[in-house]
Amino acid sequence: MSDAARSANTFPEGFVWGAATAAYQVEGAVDADGRGQSIWDTFCRVPGAIAGGDTGDVACDQYHRYAEDIGLLADLGLGAYRFSIAWPRVQPDGSGAINQKGLDHYRRVVDELLARDVVPYVTLYHWDLPQALQDKGGWPARDTAYRFAHYAAVVHDALGDVVKQWTTLNEPKVSSHAGYGSGIHAPGIKDPVLRDRAVHHLLLAHGLSLDVLRRGRHAAGQQVGLTLDVSPVVPASDSQADVDAAARVDVDSHRLFLDPVLRGVYPVQLDCVEDGDLELISAPIDFLGINYYRRILVRAAPTGDQRAETILPEGVPVTAVNWPVQPDGLREVLVDLHTTYEELPPVYITENGAAYDDVPAEDGTVDDPQRVDYLQTHLAALRTAIAAGVDVRGYFVWTLLDNFEWAEGYAKRFGIVHVDYATQTRTPKTSAGWLGRVARANALPSGDSTD
Ligand code: GCO
Repeated sequence: MSDAARSANTFPEGFVWGAATAAYQVEGAVDADGRGQSIWDTFCRVPGAIAGGDTGDVACDQYHRYAEDIGLLADLGLGAYRFSIAWPRVQPDGSGAINQKGLDHYRRVVDELLARDVVPYVTLYHWDLPQALQDKGGWPARDTAYRFAHYAAVVHDALGDVVKQWTTLNEPKVSSHAGYGSGIHAPGIKDPVLRDRAVHHLLLAHGLSLDVLRRGRHAAGQQVGLTLDVSPVVPASDSQADVDAAARVDVDSHRLFLDPVLRGVYPVQLDCVEDGDLELISAPIDFLGINYYRRILVRAAPTGDQRAETILPEGVPVTAVNWPVQPDGLREVLVDLHTTYEELPPVYITENGAAYDDVPAEDGTVDDPQRVDYLQTHLAALRTAIAAGVDVRGYFVWTLLDNFEWAEGYAKRFGIVHVDYATQTRTPKTSAGWLGRVARANALPSGDSTD
């Protein structure tokens, strides 16, 4: 390999390689040690809400098997674990009494990570709101943001001496839009007014908790950020209607979150913003987490009250959840953010990955060449974005383990490690070893390698 080729394949020094999960998707043990109910426990009981009638009751049982999973991650050579804290474990009703056993659990997880030289990246909220708070109005209620800030303070007090990397919220758009808009996620509400209130109160929760984390006693080098899901939005044709539809989707899915956080303004009018909210929401963050999966191709909806619809591009391969595989979209998203927002802080790719129908072979091995290809092409696109000047500090694959894929249940497997749900046996897939080698080398294999 020439020097030029080698450096084109190499990631910046200190680049972080990790895997991500979320509490409700992997932990199970929903009744253990005083955990309260979350909106997902409730939603999973709604007939027809989840494919196959699946629930997160057992999931990957990571609540009990965390040491094994951390061992897997460390043995692969991944140096960071992005996981979320379940609010209902720490504060079963979302306000009032704290459950020390919940905090103790996460302390053990963090200690195990540190013992294995894996850096914990803690997310405070990955969609599992305590049901008791939903009963009082959920995210459309302003009080939920204050409850979240209190919960954040409690977790930070318990772990902030050793955890340096904090993310307030994962993908607030999915919480608001899927939870209160389309209703395909918990709590399953379809109401545009409540949806918009949820947007603002989620962002307010981010701002309030950011402030709490900054002021609280913390480890040197603490970094606090927020994770958003961002996709390039492409009009299906040059027609004005399609171009307008794509612009609306971009505002509604991306700028609605990016503009208040990075610039302190909303691109549209929201009715529940109070004085001082935007100052909190736009306080500087140390990093922005970006979750990237695909481009979104949009056309104006021909009929009905929907104003835009997402369609599949022709001739592009799709994953098992029917998402088109478009690695260059990752470069595009990053370069766009970099050119649009001067205020852009350093970025981590906090999620990227793909679902495929992985089937274990007779000898028990799980070969997933499509996922290897997905990761390889997306990492090459990421490397191009870095070369173009985007300050990207790390990459977390979604996800460590096959797990509870929300409304899709267990049928869709995103893991680099296969889980046999009947026995809880973990089997690293080919992609796990591949990604581990990339992480150890801090470089992609050279183009002519057969790796
Ligand atoms: C997401 C979620 C994950 C999903 C993943 C695949 O941020 O969307 O963090 O929980 O499982 O995106 O759909």
